[in-house]
This record gives sequence, structure tokens and C-alpha cells, in this order.
Amino acid sequence: MLKYAIEVANMTKKFGSFTAVDNISFTVDKGEIFGFLGPNGAGKTTTIRMLCGLLAPNSGKGIVGGFDISKEEEKIKENIGYMSQKFSLYDDLTVSENIDFYSGIYQTKKETRQEKKEAIIKNAGLLGREKEITAHLSTSIKQHLALGCALIHDPKIVFLDEPTAGVDPISRRKFWKVIKDLSDKGITTLVSTHYMDEAEHCNRIALISGGKIIACDAPYNLKLKIKTIENMTPSLEDVFVFLVEKERRSN
Ligand SMILES: Nc1ncnc2c1ncn2[C@@H]1O[C@H](COP(=O)(O)OP(=O)(O)OP(=O)(O)O)[C@@H](O)[C@H]1O
Ligand SMILES: [Mg+2]
Repeated sequence: MLKYAIEVANMTKKFGSFTAVDNISFTVDKGEIFGFLGPNGAGKTTTIRMLCGLLAPNSGKGIVGGFDISKEEEKIKENIGYMSQKFSLYDDLTVSENIDFYSGIYQTKKETRQEKKEAIIKNAGLLGREKEITAHLSTSIKQHLALGCALIHDPKIVFLDEPTAGVDPISRRKFWKVIKDLSDKGITTLVSTHYMDEAEHCNRIALISGGKIIACDAPYNLKLKIKTIENMTPSLEDVFVFLVEKERRSN
């Protein structure tokens, strides 16, 4: 039995002389909903890509589902689901073709493919629209479809990089219900977001700024820490702004 779903120790990623991810360390428990919060360019996507075995770190160690990100990339890809920030569905394919594409790359069992496909279509609210071109779907429906595709092979660990960007509040609630249901089944989710209401739903958050983790705790505990400093009852957004500005001043 693994101690952690994700284990990261002293991981660094440089692009030329620029350090995008700077010596980060953290662990994520099985079934945990772990949030990545941080300003644009903080290093969230770069970290997620390294944990998915898509980008090699310059130094440090990452273990995902018991597999080493630097040596067992193929095993990692089989065991995780990944919804990327910008690209996850082919816009010019139909709904049905996109699902078939993911079934193919994840090599799901032939016997259950049709059943899974129907469930994804139903959950995304796309019954009867299977032949529509994906580009024509609304953002929220497209993101629900992308989530279904990322979960098609029943992964134990799921990486969602800003999955709800541009999605309306009602659809975001529906999306987070799926994440909570996954957590109840013991599936681990690492999710990045710029929405503070979503960050509140995470069991713990890593606050990332300038490639570093500047705080990592449960939302409630993060607020308590700032409260003792500033003598006020902060929102999570106050905590975010306070800690990021403090970190920027110190550089
Ligand atoms: N392939 C690359 N080559 C050079 N620089 C890169 C590359 N990928 C990312 N970067 C840089 O690394 C930094 C971190 O980028 P990253 O995409 O990880 O940030 P992020 O926290 O996901 O931001 P956002 O909230 O905007 O999605 C940025 O300064 C970005 O410009
Ligand atoms: Mg990003």
C-alpha cells in the first residue's frame, strides 16, 4: 500500500537560464483533492506536466501512483487522467469521434467501450448530439466532455489544469460534484484553478508563486495563519494576495 498518491521532493525545472519550478516538495494523500493556486506564470502547468511524465525535471524526484516520473513515464500515463489547460479535445472531430480517440489512446477494454461512451455523453448533457462538431459546443459542455474523456480508463489519479476556466457557476458546481464523487471513491485529484470558491473545496492547497510553494495547507488553516498576522478575518483571496505580495517583496 502506497503511503502517498503523489510524492514530490526538491523538483526543479529550468527553461534555459529561467527557473520555472524552483525546488518544490509536497505530498498528496490518496483520495485527496489537492489544489494548485498561483498567479499566471507561477509554474502550475509546468509542474503538472512533469507529474504526468510529459516533461523531464532538471533535478529532484517525483513519484505518482508509485511510479517514478523520470523513469516510468509510460506506467504513469497508463495510471493517470490528464486534462490539459489549453488542449484536450480535437475541435474538428465530432463528440463521438473524440470519445473514440481517447478510448483508443488509453486502450480501454473493447467490451465496455460503448457503455462508457454512453455514460460520458449522458454526463456531459450531450444525448442526441453525438455527431456534432466539438468546436460548436459551449465551453462548459466541452469541459464536461473533456473530463469524461480524461476519466475513460478509470485512473486512480487525475490531473486537471484549470478545467473550469470560462465555465459558468452552475456548470462549475456540477463539475466539482464529479471531483468530490471521485474523491469519495478514493481517486486523487490535483487541480489548478484561479477561482477562490473552488479552492475552498480542496482538502489542501499549494500556493505557488515564482516557481516556489509559498504555503501548503487546508484553506481554513491558511486563513487562520493570516488572521494571526493581520488581525482580521480574511477570505481565501485575501490570503492569496497577502502571501504572493509578501513573497514578491522579499525578492
Ligand atoms: N516550454 C517553455 N519554454 C520556456 N518557458 C516556458 C515554457 N513553458 C513555460 N514557460 C514559462 O515558465 C513559467 C511558468 O509557466 P506555467 O505555464 O507553468 O505557469 P502557470 O502557473 O501554469 O500559469 P497560468 O496561470 O497562466 O496557466 C512562465 O514564465 C512560462 O512563460
Ligand atoms: Mg497554467
